[in-house]
Formats: sequence, structure tokens, C-alpha cells
Amino acid sequence: MISVGIIGSSGYTGKKLISFLAHHPGVQVLKLYSYSTSGQDLYHLFPEFQGVFPNLPVGALSNLDESLDVYFTALPHGESIKVIPGLIEKGKVVIDLSGDFRLDEPAQYDQWYHFTHSAPHLLSQKVYGLADYHRTSYTGKKLISNPGCYPTVTLLSVLPLAEAFADDILTVATVAYSGTSGAGKSPNADLLLSEMDGNSRAYNLHQHRHEPEILQELQKAGMFAPFSFAVHLLPAAVGMYATTSIFTRKALDPAEVTAAFETFCQNQPFIRFRKQIPQIKWVTGSNFCDLSVSVRGNSILVTGAIDNLVKGASGQAVQNMNSYFGFHPAAGLLPSEGNHVSFHS
Ligand SMILES: NC(=O)c1ccc[n+]([C@@H]2O[C@H](COP(=O)([O-])OP(=O)(O)OC[C@H]3O[C@@H](n4cnc5c(N)ncnc54)[C@H](OP(=O)(O)O)[C@@H]3O)[C@@H](O)[C@H]2O)c1
Repeated sequence: MISVGIIGSSGYTGKKLISFLAHHPGVQVLKLYSYSTSGQDLYHLFPEFQGVFPNLPVGALSNLDESLDVYFTALPHGESIKVIPGLIEKGKVVIDLSGDFRLDEPAQYDQWYHFTHSAPHLLSQKVYGLADYHRTSYTGKKLISNPGCYPTVTLLSVLPLAEAFADDILTVATVAYSGTSGAGKSPNADLLLSEMDGNSRAYNLHQHRHEPEILQELQKAGMFAPFSFAVHLLPAAVGMYATTSIFTRKALDPAEVTAAFETFCQNQPFIRFRKQIPQIKWVTGSNFCDLSVSVRGNSILVTGAIDNLVKGASGQAVQNMNSYFGFHPAAGLLPSEGNHVSFHS
């Protein structure tokens, strides 16, 4: 049994972390921390948890209990980096949901995140925690950098092909859509219901921070083809959808492409490779990534759907915790893998 702290527990991803960890069979102690809302308690922050989980105080980071086994940092980018180096120095395990440690090259932070990275030594020490495609050992590692939501669905869509046909791939283009919760809970006039209802639009074209992250991981898998990435907002709070178009040098056998996905998804309880084209509503609230593929000659279309707050953030973070500490991969994430936590505040 382990003790866990959630730093940034009042945000969208923080709330999801609570919902998974508060009934996790391996979690004995759960402590919550936030910023402007510290001093409140769980039932005040999230009244819907009353009668579901015991009430818990929400502490300030200045009073952080540094004796816990693992900390989830669910803070805005540029904020996690202020907290994490100190925890790592104290030998703690940290699973960071922000983008502060996802990129490998410090200079990329100046370009894409507009700050100079103050802990570049940790970039090479971290594990990039794409939980369903784990190629790096956790042994000796303390920092797990949880992937971004768009990178999660895009990488799970492309990596099966990169692994099997990297040399045949000419171009990769992803068009993706996110619900507005992807931007967190801070007020933003562009995301008002009155702006987004009945609306959809592209944003951050050629400037989205997830583009270098995806490219970095595809290149690690040996795929160096040009990649284009266009993201859009959906008139929905939750959900993420990506359609990726891949052109290959020669026509590929659809059966071979299907086999590549089936091999990739083998023993991955949270990837559902489907014959039907996925829909967001099939994955909302769950840690599943649903994928399907269509092949015609040298054109491949991969469709993927996730819940941006779960598979794209908190569910995957808990999956990483499960792998790190040797729990069942689905512990806390599927009802069958619940649930006898005792609460300590
Ligand atoms: N939303 C998604 O779909 C998603 C997906 C993948 C990754 N992520 C990443 O996960 C992290 C958290 O995202 P989120 O959507 O949960 O954000 P959020 O809803 O805006 O919540 C942010 C949390 O951080 C705290 N916080 C806010 N401003 C802060 C500041 N200036 N200094 C320190 N703490 C501050 C807040 O505390 P108070 O409420 O007490 O002020 C809150 O607990 C971000 O880095 C985000 O990029 C999000």
C-alpha cells in the first residue's frame, strides 16, 4: 500500500485523479493540495463526491507532506517545474501531468513553451509515460512525464504503423478535435458556452506544443516522415478525436496493416482496436483509447478516440503509477479492480 499526494487537486485533471485514487486498492493515504482553493475541503470543491468518498481537507503547497510515496502534479505548465525538482531531490516519485518535462531538448522549451527550462538535467532522467507503449524501464527513475492528450491519441494511432512500416511511410497528417476541458478550468472568453455551442474551429496551427512532443516520440520509434498536425475545438466539454492520414510509398496489404495494430494492442487492456469507426461517446469517462484503421492502396486512415481528461491525462497517470508500483494495470481504473482504500486526512 502506498501514500499519494495530488498537487493541483482542484482542477479538471485533479478531480479525475481523486476519482480514481480514492478507491484504488493500493492507495492507503491520499492527500490533496491546491492553490487558490486551498483551505477548503473535498465536499466544498466537488459536492458530487459527498457520500461517494470520505471528506478530505485540501491543503496548501506550503504545508506539503513530504513523506508520501508518490506525487501527482496536475498544475499548469510552468508551475509544475517549480515543485518537481525539490521533490525529486528528496527521492520522491513524481508523475507530472503538465508539459514541463515531456520534451527532451531544453531549447525546445524556449521555442514552444516560452520559458527557459530551469531543471534541464531532469529532462533526460524522466520516463515519457505513454502507458500503453512502454519501452523504457522505470527502474531507478523518479520522474514520469505523462503525455499530452493529443499526443496520446495520435501516438497510439501512428506507432503501430511506425513500428511495422516506418520505412514505407511518406507523410503523416493528424487532424484532431478536443472538448473545451482540454484548456483547464481557468476562465477564457473564447471557450464560453455562448461562443462554443454549435461551433467548431481550428486553433494554434503550426504552434501547438503537442506537435514537437509527437514528433519526438515518432522519431524515437524510427519514423522520420514529415508530420502535420491541425487541432480543433469541439462544442463539447469532454472528449478527443483524431483522424490520421498516412501515405505510404507502396500499397500496403490491409490484412498486414490490421495485423500490425493487433500485435500492437495485444496485452494492452486499455486499447480497443475496433472494426467500427470509434466514437467519442464510447470512451467518455473511461481510460480506453479506441482505434480503427482503413486502408486503400497507399492511403491509410486511422481514427482514434479518447477522453482527454482520463486516457489523455489522469487515467493514464494512474496507469503509470500502477506499472511503477507493480499494481494491476487496471487498478482503480476499472470497477472490477476496485476498492478498499481506507482514508487518512
Ligand atoms: N485538461 C486536459 O484535458 C489535460 C490533458 C492532459 C494534460 N493536461 C495538463 O494537466 C495540467 C492540469 O490541467 P487541468 O486541466 O487540470 O488544469 P486546471 O483545471 O486549470 O487546474 C489547475 C490546477 O492547478 C492549480 N493552479 C492554477 N493556477 C496555478 C498557479 N498559477 N500556480 C499554481 N497552481 C495553480 C489550480 O489550483 P486552484 O484551483 O486552487 O487555484 C488547479 O488545482 C496542465 O498542465 C495541463 O496542460 C490537461
